[in-house]
Amino acid sequence: MPAIPSLKERYRDYFDIGAAITPQLLQTKGDLIKTQFSSLTAENQMKPGPIHPAPDTWAFEDADAIAAFAREHNLHLRGHTLVWHNQTPEWFYEGGDKDTLLSRVKAHMQVMFDRYAKDIIAWDVVNEAVADQGDEIFRDSRYHQILGDNLVVRSFELARELLPGGYFVYNDYNEIMPAKRTKILALLDMLKSAGNLVDAFGFQCHWNIHDLDLDELRRSIELYAAKGVHLQMTELDLSLYASSDKEIYDAATPENLALQADLYGKIFAIFREYKDVIDSVTFWGATDADSWLQGFPVRNRPYNQPLLFDGECQPKECFRRVVEF
Ligand code: G3I
Repeated sequence: MPAIPSLKERYRDYFDIGAAITPQLLQTKGDLIKTQFSSLTAENQMKPGPIHPAPDTWAFEDADAIAAFAREHNLHLRGHTLVWHNQTPEWFYEGGDKDTLLSRVKAHMQVMFDRYAKDIIAWDVVNEAVADQGDEIFRDSRYHQILGDNLVVRSFELARELLPGGYFVYNDYNEIMPAKRTKILALLDMLKSAGNLVDAFGFQCHWNIHDLDLDELRRSIELYAAKGVHLQMTELDLSLYASSDKEIYDAATPENLALQADLYGKIFAIFREYKDVIDSVTFWGATDADSWLQGFPVRNRPYNQPLLFDGECQPKECFRRVVEF
């Protein structure tokens, strides 16, 4: 059987190709991961909840294992994530005043930087702070209730103060939807005018085959890049189900898989055109079997197949479309 081409080799002159992984996956699918990908992101293990469950309790083991794997195989590592309304333990907010919360965020960042800055190429400083609906820029979160509209700028200021040479990313989803995009662009302006605090915008790229608008993707890349930031595609997957779909039926039809392959090919053709501003393209998972979309948003829904490799680590038709150009 002919050898499978390597994504990271194919894209060596373009950008890093990454995957979100877990320590378990590094054990079971390490060969695939180290040969196909040049960058890793911890799917959960570097988030405040898993790594810092109580004020004086840290659980470094899983994150350390991921950092060690990256070092051993010469892979880049992204730091995901420091400030997020989700997977942050309740104790961060206890007491409810600004100074206490900021001092906890600062102490958290300090430990993360001390331990992992030597391994990490880019940090998602703030994740998903922008509201999906309505006129407000910011999501109504515990962070926002306590820190107000300063939440993102203050977080980036703290990160810069603690790690002056760090490469800092604002990361969000629904990034190509015009209404939310306008708000994210305004947020990037805030970060720029507060002293060039942001280096890159993270397009999460959680898309599906039914309503992805490639013209909006291209327009979005241009609009974000025009803010003078680099772009990192941080969590790419292409679900076979529409986002509004909550029905139980099997979307893995031959037609849908063909459409997915066609779209993956077109998405990467666009990414290649913008290689000068795109640092990396990371898939949210290595194979379909490990995707967070199994079980989301509907439990027991037939198997989704959003990635380039099947559960047996075999390349799918969409893989071929991504490497053949
Ligand atoms: O680790 C516990 C386990 O001890 C417990 O028994 C089990 C019972 O539910 O839960 C386990 O934690 C789960 C964790 O994933 C690890 O598997 C959480 O319930 C579950 O909520 C968590 O989901 C993660 C999700 O973020 C949380 O919002 C997904 O794995 C992860 O893929 C997903 O990643 C996010 C990015 O960080 C940000 N952008 C969106 C993306 C997809 O939602």
